[in-house]
Amino acid sequence: MRHRVVIIGAGNIAVSHLEALRKMTRLEAVAVADVQEQRASKLADEYGIHAYADYRAMIEQEKPDVAVITLPHFLHKEAAVWCAEAGCHILLEKPMALNAAECDEIIAAVKASQVRLLVGHTQHYLPENRKAAQLIRQGDLGELLMINDTRHMHYYRDSRPDWFLEQAKAGGGILTNLGSHSLDKIQWFGGAPIAKVRASVSYFGPRGDVEGSGLVYLENENGLPATISQSGYAVVPRNETELVFTKGMLKVLSGQSLWISEGETYVQVPVEDQTDPFILQFEDLIDHIETGKPLACSMEYSRSIVAAVDAIYASHANKTEWTVRSDGHAIHPAE
Ligand SMILES: NC(=O)c1ccc[n+]([C@@H]2O[C@H](COP(=O)([O-])OP(=O)(O)OC[C@H]3O[C@@H](n4cnc5c(N)ncnc54)[C@H](O)[C@@H]3O)[C@@H](O)[C@H]2O)c1
Repeated sequence: MRHRVVIIGAGNIAVSHLEALRKMTRLEAVAVADVQEQRASKLADEYGIHAYADYRAMIEQEKPDVAVITLPHFLHKEAAVWCAEAGCHILLEKPMALNAAECDEIIAAVKASQVRLLVGHTQHYLPENRKAAQLIRQGDLGELLMINDTRHMHYYRDSRPDWFLEQAKAGGGILTNLGSHSLDKIQWFGGAPIAKVRASVSYFGPRGDVEGSGLVYLENENGLPATISQSGYAVVPRNETELVFTKGMLKVLSGQSLWISEGETYVQVPVEDQTDPFILQFEDLIDHIETGKPLACSMEYSRSIVAAVDAIYASHANKTEWTVRSDGHAIHPAE
């Protein structure tokens, strides 16, 4: 059976999903919706699918098996709950929602409707990241001692849609958007959810009201320490995750390459399987729907990333360490 897929939000990332669908036989794109109708029409023409202005009308008309939600963050909960209640399986872009409480509402609606939901944590499907995860689990580099993740990029580029820079619509800035990728890698590579957070962020952006940089110290539930350094101001671009072990190091340049060291210098690790991560993401969801195979990221896992982001902002505001409970809620240590 071919699963019929609709896309809600015809913006930048919608194209990556449609490109993946074009190459797949298990699924087919049938329609796309956007409040900016010309965006939906443009993609519909390019991919030979139907265009709608209203996603609810699209779902009622098309009755798809799967809805891909590629909307601004403040609309994730509303759309995910609506799609679940309409009986659609869901691929929801990261981050799952604005905060952990909204994630709980999504999880409740998905469970009540007995549909399946995958949050698009694409890091889990990038070739060099998957290879790194495999090397970590193999254990030849000894004990994993720490993870340092650095992401520097021109976050305030003119082409960035305004909503990304508005607190009320995005939930936060670089640490919400790109921090959720960093937290995903740290939780996955480290093999446990984030438990403690101490963070300091800054608000010097030329547009909007979200933070533009942050330095975060974290520990996971096993006590593994990690750092995240992010800046969206005037930086030399960098996207690097370094893992320090007792017998060597790994350096992951996500989306580019993987490096290993057992001494003084890094050598590149060949990564043979270069399958499009957006294809692997769809396959993960479809396998889960058809066979019950566990997803790479459960809903609870995705909620734990949002809870860690909540804790980052709370730690900054309160100038103190915050803990993240194992059920995925950020709380002050004193509570
Ligand atoms: N996984 C990744 O690597 C990755 C990369 C980029 C973006 N994202 C995520 O994807 C999501 C979308 O990001 P984007 O860069 O595509 O944003 P975007 O602004 O380019 O696209 C969002 C689209 O949603 C439309 N929209 C707004 N309200 C709507 C409504 N009520 N109904 C229908 N359409 C509506 C907008 O008109 C816009 O076209 C975000 O959650 C973002 O964090 C993920």
